Amino acid sequence: MTMRLLPSIIHFTLTATAYLHSSHYPLCRYHRLISLSSSCSRLKMLPSNQELNQAKQRISQAISLGAPAYNAGDILRCATLYKEAAREIAPLVPSTFQVKLLREVEEEDVDDEDNNEKKYDAKAWALRRVFDSIVEYQLPIIPHKISDENITYEPFTSSQLGIEPVRVMDSVMGGISRGGWISQTNTFFGETSLANNGGFASLRWRFSNMQNWSYAKGIYIKGLKHSKADEHTFRIILKDVVCERIRLSNFKAVFANPQQTDDPLLIPFTSITQMEQMGQPMVGAPAFNPSAVTEIGLMAIKPTVVGQFQLEFLEWGLYS
Ligand SMILES: *[C@@H]1O[C@H](CO)[C@@H](O)[C@H](O)[C@H]1NC(C)=O
Ligand SMILES: *[C@@H]1O[C@H](CO)[C@@H](O)[C@H](O)[C@H]1NC(C)=O
Repeated sequence: MTMRLLPSIIHFTLTATAYLHSSHYPLCRYHRLISLSSSCSRLKMLPSNQELNQAKQRISQAISLGAPAYNAGDILRCATLYKEAAREIAPLVPSTFQVKLLREVEEEDVDDEDNNEKKYDAKAWALRRVFDSIVEYQLPIIPHKISDENITYEPFTSSQLGIEPVRVMDSVMGGISRGGWISQTNTFFGETSLANNGGFASLRWRFSNMQNWSYAKGIYIKGLKHSKADEHTFRIILKDVVCERIRLSNFKAVFANPQQTDDPLLIPFTSITQMEQMGQPMVGAPAFNPSAVTEIGLMAIKPTVVGQFQLEFLEWGLYS
């Protein structure tokens, strides 16, 4: 892969490049960071949905006991409950969160002298922030090795997508994230900020004609590469004709290429089911309607993308 010149606000290289051709994820990458209680072999990149849900349940249990304790002034109890939960869920969450949890838990173990309230307070909040990120996290769809002899790929054309996407940032909510698009290289880059409760950058392509994609199975992306391979996830945003009537509503699918493989990413329409409004699921809303699509977009958002990001791909379109 060749490095490309980017606009001057972004100066960073794709950290993933070094792993492009390794078929095995380097399990011990974090060994230097986690030296004490954690065994390296427990580290894994993506958990199963079941493990992730188990972790989320354990978190809500810990918060349901910890938050009242904290509010009642028992900060030590809150911090202790959170630390216990952090140890238990660490093996059930993606490695990027695992590292953060264990760092908090171990820091305490190392420095046991100055046990004052301020320290417990900071610990409780630090763990709470990681917990909140895990609760928000969704497992991404990732590329798979497939036999594609029976798959038809139909790339989006420039006449279909139009010239330039519209940039939609978190400034709707007072945030200050930034993002841009380089169409020659299909590169989406930028920086998300958590300031003012913001945290997303997105691009939207509005179709001049409503798209009838009922014949297709879903959307594919070939040659997907992105920053912080094992941490960042991105979203495809879709709007159908129903979304046009409901302010700020859309459908999303989370995707990533954590192992930076060259396999194609297939996002089936059947995985795009829940209409959202400003990120909140809309209960009872109809499912995505591929026969009346009005807009497609790409999004980088917290909790996985905080700070600079870059996403690029060779080609995208419909597969059937
Ligand atoms: C492709 O389709 C043909 C004909 O339906 C079938 O025989 C073959 O097994 C399919 N190949 C794969 C990899 O699914
Ligand atoms: C979409 O195309 C299919 C055939 O591929 C057709 O049956 C259907 O009526 C079309 N839907 C709309 C909304 O145009």
